[in-house]
Order: sequence, then C-alpha cells, then structure tokens
Amino acid sequence: MLSNDPIIGFIGAGNMAGALIEGLLANGVAPSQLWAADADAGKLATFAAKGVHTSTTNADLVQACDVLVLAVKPQVMAPVVGALKDALAGKSCLLISIAAGIQIGSLQQWTSAQQPIVRCMPNTPALVLAGATGVVANAHVSAQQKAAADAILKAVGLVCWLDNEEQIDAVTALSGSGPAYFFLMIEAMQAAGTRLGLPAATANALTLQTAFGAAKLALHSDVDAAELRRRVTSPNGTTEAAIKQFESDAFRELVDRALAKAAARSKELAAGK
Ligand SMILES: NC(=O)c1ccc[n+]([C@@H]2O[C@H](COP(=O)([O-])OP(=O)(O)OC[C@H]3O[C@@H](n4cnc5c(N)ncnc54)[C@H](OP(=O)(O)O)[C@@H]3O)[C@@H](O)[C@H]2O)c1
Repeated sequence: MLSNDPIIGFIGAGNMAGALIEGLLANGVAPSQLWAADADAGKLATFAAKGVHTSTTNADLVQACDVLVLAVKPQVMAPVVGALKDALAGKSCLLISIAAGIQIGSLQQWTSAQQPIVRCMPNTPALVLAGATGVVANAHVSAQQKAAADAILKAVGLVCWLDNEEQIDAVTALSGSGPAYFFLMIEAMQAAGTRLGLPAATANALTLQTAFGAAKLALHSDVDAAELRRRVTSPNGTTEAAIKQFESDAFRELVDRALAKAAARSKELAAGK
C-alpha cells in the first residue's frame, strides 16, 4: 500500500539521488518525507542539514519507506539489493531502479518474483532539473505506485513511460547518452567558430546560447524541428550552404549509426558483457 504522501528513500546518496532529492524539495515535498542512506556518512550530512532523515544502514529505509529509489552504481546493485531481500519480504515497497543495464528480471531474482519494480533511465541534465527519463514498470506495480514513481521522476524533468523493457536500450542510446552527443556538437561548433576568426570566449558563448535557444524554440513551437529548420533556411542563403554540406556528408546516417552502436552496447551491458 502507498499513502498519498509516500515516504521516499534513496539507497546511495550520490549525484543522481542528490538531484532527485533537490527536485522533490523544490517541488514542495517535505524533507521529513525523505530518507537517504549511503555507505559514506560524510555524503549524508548535507541532506541531514535540510531535514532529510539519514542512515548508514540501508535496511532502515525498507522499514521507514513506501518507495525506495535504488541509486547506487550498477556494479554494487546485486549485493545491495540482495541484502534487503528479507526486509522487503511481506512489505509492498516499490523499488525504483535508476541503474544503467540492470534488468527487472535481475532485481526480481535478488528480491522476489512478486516485487513491484520500476526501472528507469534518467540523464545527467536531471542535475539541473532538466532531465529526460524513460520508465517501465513490472506487472506488480499498482496504479498508485506508478503515479508515485511518475511524480518522483518528474521532479527532475520529463518522464516518458515505455511499452516494454526492451525500449530501455533505445532510451539509453537516445536520451541517456544523448547529452554527450550535444556536447560533441557544441565542442565542434566552438572550434569551428574560433577557426572562422572569433575569440574563443565569444565562440563558446554564442554556441551555448544558440544550443539553448534552439532547444527552447523547438520546445515552445507548434511545428516540428524539420519545419523550424526549413523556416531558417532561405534559398541560396548561408544556412542552406551549411545544411547541404551536412546532408552531402551523410549527417543523418552518421547519427543513425552512432545511436545503433549505443543501443547495441546497452544490450551487451545488460547481458553482463
Ligand atoms: N550520473 C548519470 O549520468 C546517470 C544517468 C543515468 C543513470 N545513472 C545511474 O544512477 C546510479 C547512480 O549514479 P550516480 O552518478 O549518482 O553515482 P554516485 O554519485 O557514485 O552515487 C552512488 C552512491 O552510492 C554509494 N554507495 C556505494 N555502495 C553503497 C552501499 N552498499 N550502500 C549504500 N550506498 C552505497 C556511493 O558511495 P561511494 O562513493 O562511497 O562508493 C555513492 O555515494 C547508477 O546506477 C547509474 O547507472 C546515472
């Protein structure tokens, strides 16, 4: 069961848990509704100072919480979750895993076949409350638990519910790794700007503001990105000259191949390779 104001615990109080806790507090969740556990007591002090309950014993959170966000690194997930198995038995606590490459089947194996589990793939812009997260639930997650997971993850940005767990590999390739693709584009544009004669600081500032402005315009527009591009591409103009070069160098095919590689690697990691 889940109350209307669920008690939410974070196992692992690192970067992603910190972002989610900040997001929840910014959204008006009372600090007394939150728990954080970490192996490192030093990491808990900043949360305790905000009124969040803290513990260095993960099992304490199973007793106290309706929802547990598993926010440790994937490589320690098996022992961390396995150690909670007995405490979780007989308690309908929702587990939300944000770990890359850890499948719902593994989490069920380490707990029980009936364990309610939500698996998601967030991305680093969650750290500035502008994240994008793909989410999937197993059959044991109730409508109320799903609503709680949705609200928790929305505290740090956009949430897209998926039809099945296989789609997590596509989400990983698209939005999970996606910030790095835009960073690469930003790096390349900054370098090109300086080669064209701009001071580095000017090239950097113009590139970043253009990336931000283009994303904001696309988010607020009622037409798609292709139409926005057409509207700034005058016949025989400067934009057209650049776009023609991108197209003749097979830019779209390159992006397609890059994302296919990322999705394939995501599948391999889930298979322990
Ligand atoms: N960062 C991202 O971009 C991103 C994106 C998508 C998904 N994720 C997922 O989010 C999860 C957390 O990533 P992160 O970047 O937030 O990692 P992080 O900053 O390293 O946070 C993990 C925390 O868990 C602590 N920890 C380690 N063993 C523990 C244990 N047995 N019990 C309790 N706490 C323990 C770590 O302490 P120590 O430092 O002392 O080991 C650390 O404070 C990962 O599974 C990752 O796959 C991250």
